[in-house]
Amino acid sequence: MDHFGYRQDQLFAEDVSLSLIAEEVGTPCYVYSRATLERHYRAFDSAFGDFPHSICYAVKANGNLAVLQVLERLGCGFDIVSGGELDRVLAAGGRAEQVVFSGVGKSTAEIRDALSRGVRILSVESEAELERISEVSQRLGKEAAVALRINPDVDPGTHPYIATGLRENKFGVPFVDAVRLYQKAHALKGIRPAGIACHIGSQLTQVTPFCDALEKVLDLVAELKTHGIELDHLDLGGGLGIRYADENPPSPGDYIEALLATLRRRGCQMHVTLEPGRSIVGNAGVLLTQVEYTKAGPDQDFAIVDAAMNDLLRPSLYQAWHEVVEVNRAGGRPTHRYDVVGPVCESGDWLARDRMLSIASGDFLAIRSSGAYGFVMSSNYNARPRPAEVMVDGESFHIVRERESTASLFAGEHLLP
Ligand code: LLP
Repeated sequence: MDHFGYRQDQLFAEDVSLSLIAEEVGTPCYVYSRATLERHYRAFDSAFGDFPHSICYAVKANGNLAVLQVLERLGCGFDIVSGGELDRVLAAGGRAEQVVFSGVGKSTAEIRDALSRGVRILSVESEAELERISEVSQRLGKEAAVALRINPDVDPGTHPYIATGLRENKFGVPFVDAVRLYQKAHALKGIRPAGIACHIGSQLTQVTPFCDALEKVLDLVAELKTHGIELDHLDLGGGLGIRYADENPPSPGDYIEALLATLRRRGCQMHVTLEPGRSIVGNAGVLLTQVEYTKAGPDQDFAIVDAAMNDLLRPSLYQAWHEVVEVNRAGGRPTHRYDVVGPVCESGDWLARDRMLSIASGDFLAIRSSGAYGFVMSSNYNARPRPAEVMVDGESFHIVRERESTASLFAGEHLLP
């Protein structure tokens, strides 16, 4: 459930009309709903009841400081994959102890910073990384709490670019190496094997792959116990899907209930962490854009809008489907079938194909479900300043990131002497 909807043919975010935001802030512009973010976080948190747990929002999905701040105020933790994301969490008022650090290629500097600032746990993705963490943490005179990220070889049934838990993927350590690596971690100085982690992919619409992965991980936990290695933390990653079109993903409550049923049946007493990204922020955001031109082609008509692949890459990169709707439905325009495309000089620059829309030049459109992996994947291709970001909160809205200026795009560049 989200807080975007029509009131008398005008699309609103909470109690603010999106036309008003488009007029005042300009387009393209990302708009987030605070109430939706809070609702989604609470759905995860409350479903656990009194089972010991942490919800660590995956910052990569949307790292805007205000988004992090809203979640932090509810008691949410954070899953990061870079030193930059740690800086963001701290700048938003988060604490390092609420942070889990995942990622397949952590640099020495990132490991050093994470350990000195007191990040809760590092997920380790290879033997070489384990050795490096041990060296860095000994140099700092610390003991690093680590979880090995296990690749359980489970098919998440999702787009190949966002499947991560198959044996051919670059993520995690192979299941068969896990016992040996835990023994090594146990013996290494500067390392405390505290947990176990897995993340099998993103935009999953069934609970079965999550439960299959969980069973495999719990088998491993039991086997490790027989080797005298006891772990307290179980991190099951993120990956719960959302509805973009007609998908029917489980709700956070149903998903967590399925996990808890497995955990209880297996007598698991570990502290459980989840790292949801998309399911918290995806449907809490839209991308507002304005129609520049409509153009009739020999085979299809185009709506050329002021947002492009550099602002929202998902359609170009994953052939992702995002709903496109008129912000003002009262216009009485004729309805046509359009491909919605941007001004970037690439045929791959499209945002939506084959959509029935009632529009004319100057009208505003909202590209829905753009809160996750939208702004964070944007670029300055074609020297396009990145959009503003706005957070709606009840009857008010706040610019939480200014639109970039073109001057800022080349501020760090230098002419030759
Ligand atoms: N934890 C780890 C270790 C991850 O790699 C990811 C996502 C998450 C948590 C959060 O997953 P979520 O709950 O958001 O599914 N750019 C792609 C998605 C890439 C996901 C990468 N990892 C897209 O736009 O669909």
